[in-house]
Amino acid sequence: MKIRMPSLRGANIIGTGSAVPERILTNFDLEKMVDTSNEWIVERTGIRERHIADEGITTSDLAGEAALKALEDADMTVGELDLIIVATVTPDTIFPSCACAVQREIKAKNAAAFDISAGCTGFVYALSLAGDLISTGRYNNVLVIGAEILSRIVDWHDRNTCVLFGDGAGAVVMNPSAPGEGIIECVLKSDGSLSDVLLLPAGGSKIPASFETVKSKLHYIHMKGNLVYRHAVRVMVEGAEEVLEKAGLKKEDIDYIIPHQANQRLIDLAAERFGAHDKVYSNIDRYGNTSAASIPIALDEASRLGKLKDGDIVLLVGFGAGFTWGAALLKWCDK
Ligand code: UT7
Repeated sequence: MKIRMPSLRGANIIGTGSAVPERILTNFDLEKMVDTSNEWIVERTGIRERHIADEGITTSDLAGEAALKALEDADMTVGELDLIIVATVTPDTIFPSCACAVQREIKAKNAAAFDISAGCTGFVYALSLAGDLISTGRYNNVLVIGAEILSRIVDWHDRNTCVLFGDGAGAVVMNPSAPGEGIIECVLKSDGSLSDVLLLPAGGSKIPASFETVKSKLHYIHMKGNLVYRHAVRVMVEGAEEVLEKAGLKKEDIDYIIPHQANQRLIDLAAERFGAHDKVYSNIDRYGNTSAASIPIALDEASRLGKLKDGDIVLLVGFGAGFTWGAALLKWCDK
């Protein structure tokens, strides 16, 4: 009997896509909803507007739209996909997975499908996993999506959180490449002891949904903003430094940094501490924090604007609920 041994190969991004709802909610709109001001939001977060999904639009709708754009960009048919991974904290339903809903939506009959829950770091986790599954030869054509409709779990009376978040989806299509092309190295980290800094308390097995949980607003995002901020700056820098070290690269080798778009001040401080402020791509002013979707939306935008050149070294770095954080280094290779 001859057993086929897995062969290590590269995993490259060959297409990107993104989708956001049409409706835009500006800071001036928010001024009429809660006790806030455009000045406060811009100064403290860098956000000017965000896209909000109308009733009836689901996370898988946005994910499916982003996926079809990424497939078109990759020049690949839906039938060629053999795996779909969706990173989200706002799936259409707790189960089945959002990935299965996307599969149904885009009719990707030949794909396996599952979700990853790693908060706003979800896309980096999913990308890393997809890269490994391609490298080992287990899968070939993988769709990786970060998608959220956070507006459904935001308390629109809480000014501490409701000004921060937006809805959207970003997707990439990956397939095998020569070693060293595409994903170079990844670092995934978590610290479950910090789970209480950012969470949705009820609706799971710990606090099942009840009239009482609804009344107590336990189905909304609960966040200790200052603590998240402090840990985020630290872990973004640590994650970026660690992935560089693992890859044997230096800061100077990086052409672009695409961080999780949570807060412009936070991004600026982390970039300053890391020492690569001029390389950061940011679009938070127009989208707000779209959690797991923020990095792939920014990646798609940077790619479509022609900012990413063949051979560029791109650093993706994020943090989120869990507490989780992670970084991925890519060599951007035109397909
Ligand atoms: O993807 C991960 C998700 N989460 C994050 O990334 C959050 C990270 N943290 C942050 O981005 C920041 O901590 C926030 C933007 C959430 C808050 O900014 P801050 O500069 O840390 O403000 P703060 O929490 O220290 O609050 C300062 C003041 C408070 O008033 P008092 O107590 O000093 O009178 C808040 O009540 O600002 C007040 N405040 C607001 N005022 C106007 C909080 N939210 C608002 C608001 N408009 N929307």
